[in-house]
Order: sequence, then structure tokens, then C-alpha cells
Amino acid sequence: MSFRIQPPAPARPNRCQLFGPGSRPAIFEKMAASAADVINLDLEDSVAPSDKDEARANIIKALSDVDWGNKYMSVRINGLDTPYWYRDVVDLLEQAGDRLDQIMIPKVGCAADVYAVDALVTAIETAKGRSKPISFEVIIESAAGIAHAEEIAASSPRLQAMSLGAADFAASMGMQTTGIGGTQENYYMQRGEDQFWSDPWHWAQAKIVAACRTHGVLPVDGPFGDFSDDAGFVAQARRSATLGMVGKWAIHPKQIALANDVFTPSEAQVTEAREILAAMEQAKANGEGATVYKGRLVDIASIKQAEVIVRQSEMIAAS
Ligand code: COA
Ligand code: MG
Repeated sequence: MSFRIQPPAPARPNRCQLFGPGSRPAIFEKMAASAADVINLDLEDSVAPSDKDEARANIIKALSDVDWGNKYMSVRINGLDTPYWYRDVVDLLEQAGDRLDQIMIPKVGCAADVYAVDALVTAIETAKGRSKPISFEVIIESAAGIAHAEEIAASSPRLQAMSLGAADFAASMGMQTTGIGGTQENYYMQRGEDQFWSDPWHWAQAKIVAACRTHGVLPVDGPFGDFSDDAGFVAQARRSATLGMVGKWAIHPKQIALANDVFTPSEAQVTEAREILAAMEQAKANGEGATVYKGRLVDIASIKQAEVIVRQSEMIAAS
């Protein structure tokens, strides 16, 4: 380990973030009754420009009127390149009650974007005597965002989570695709007659995970647009979980159970992790730093790997 200890990410489940347009209040109760850990009420790209004011009012009202249970409540504001975002922040911070937990800032391109929102939020919190500080999450969905992922991850003590937004990201990067995440037909290697699909999102995800883990932020996989393709969603989510992400967005209720399943360590995974910890306890008692578990090497690093799974499982069970 470096002299600098890796800070822990917030200890709350973030397996599924369910999105819904702020202009569609009819689904708010259904969102509240869902099994998602995080609710994202949207003011940005699922809301038409003519509906922004109404969506803002809907969300502020629903935050206090709807029983959201123990969900982590986040509102996606408009981007800093729009004329809407300051009003989003001012109205939310001045008018929404304490049920608002978090603001999601989209299309973040540099640390100063977060700094700007932080300054405004901090001023309003102080002016209004808000006792509960609002946390932030950001979406990395542009070339600038991914290029500056690390400084963004370090930008504010308010920052709790960072998502990859595949659609805007692809557009900003000039990628030849209209798909929102998942397998891209033209991204493959060829050997003889055989084609092998590769993952064009992999490097961006890995970069986000590294930035997040360096600064104690939760790395999250964003939307998967084809909500008719359950197997594709699950495959994408499993790749994200394998890379270290803690959860994924749902843009349709049928994706919630899929995400929860992938991002909850299975009983078999937890059992194996506990067995590895027990094997290493035994090794330690024997004065050894390494031993054999099911025919494979486990050593002191295996303890840390196993602890990731056990901690995640215990944190989810406790929530
Ligand atoms: N949250 C909770 N419930 C939802 C929902 C959501 N995001 N989207 C749809 N539902 C409900 C519907 O009201 C319907 O309920 P019912 O069975 O009681 O009638 C049920 O789930 C099935 O919905 P369906 O008819 O399949 O979808 P739809 O055509 O109503 O809506 C979308 C499809 C994609 C437009 C809608 O899911 C949506 O707006 N998703 C979020 C989009 C968004 O926020 N994007 C921004 C982030 S990328
Ligand atoms: Mg976007």
C-alpha cells in the first residue's frame, strides 16, 4: 500500500439507481415501491425544455408527499451548459425538504464544474440553515469527463458516486453507434471465420473505477437502453461488477431485479470468501503467508479480495 491509504467509499447499497422523468409524476409512487436502492428523479434529458419548470415543481412536491421509505433520493439537474441548472439547484435547495439526499450533476467535464455547483449549494445551505448536507454524484459522459475523471473524483467532499453515461459519452467521443451501452456489432476481432466481440466501454469503466477507488467514490455503470434485452443487460452488469463497479442504472422497472441480483454477492460467493478467510486464518496460525484452497494459491492479498465480498454482503444485509 502507498503511504496514502485508499479511502473507503460511502457504505450504502447502490446496486440499482432507478430513473424517472420529473415530468411524469404518475410513476413516482411506483418508483417508491420498487426495489431500487437509489431513486433518480430527472430534470435533464428525459424532460422536454417546455416541461422543465413543471418537472421541478413536481419533484419538489413529491420529495415530501411520497413515502420513499429508506431510498437514497437523488435529483438529476441540468448540465452547466444550459440555462436551467442554477434554477434547479436554487429551487431544490430552497424548497425541497430534508428528504432530498443528493444532486446528480450530468456531463461533468472538469473539477471546476463540481466546484461551481458546490459553491452555490453551500451558500444556499448556509443561508437557509439546512442541517443535512446534500451529497453529489456525477455522470462521466463526455471526452472531457473521461479525460479528467481523476480530478473530478477528487473535486468535492460531497461527491459520493460517479456513473458512466454511455449514450452521451458515445456521442461526445464520436463513436459509430446509436446503442446505449452493451455489445456493439462492429467492435470485434476476427480470426479465420470466427468473430470475437470485445467491449468498447471497458477502458472507460476501468478508468472510472480507478479514479473512484483512489478518492473513496462509488463507481456505477449507467444506462442500458435496450430494456427488451435482459441477457444483454445482465452481461453488461456482470462485466461492470467484475471490474469493481457497485451498481447500475435502471431506465425501466424490469431492469431493477436484474441489477440487484448481479450486484448482490451470491451466497456461493460469500461462502467461498469466508472459506478463504478461514483458510488464511489457519495459514497464519501455522506461520504461513500463503496456502492452498481448492487446489489454488491463496495468500495475504486473497484476504483483501475476500473481504471486499464479505463487506459488501454484510453492508447490504444491514441496510
Ligand atoms: N419507474 C417506475 N415505473 C415505471 C417506469 C419507471 N422509470 N417506467 C415505466 N414504469 C411503469 C409504467 O407506468 C407501467 O406501469 P403499469 O404496469 O402500472 O401501467 C409499467 O412500469 C410498464 O411500463 P411500460 O409500458 O413497459 O413502459 P412505458 O412505455 O410506460 O415507459 C420508458 C418506458 C422508457 C419511457 C420509461 O420507462 C421511462 O421514462 N424510463 C426512464 C427514462 C429516464 O429517466 N431517462 C433518463 C435516464 S437515461
Ligand atoms: Mg446523458
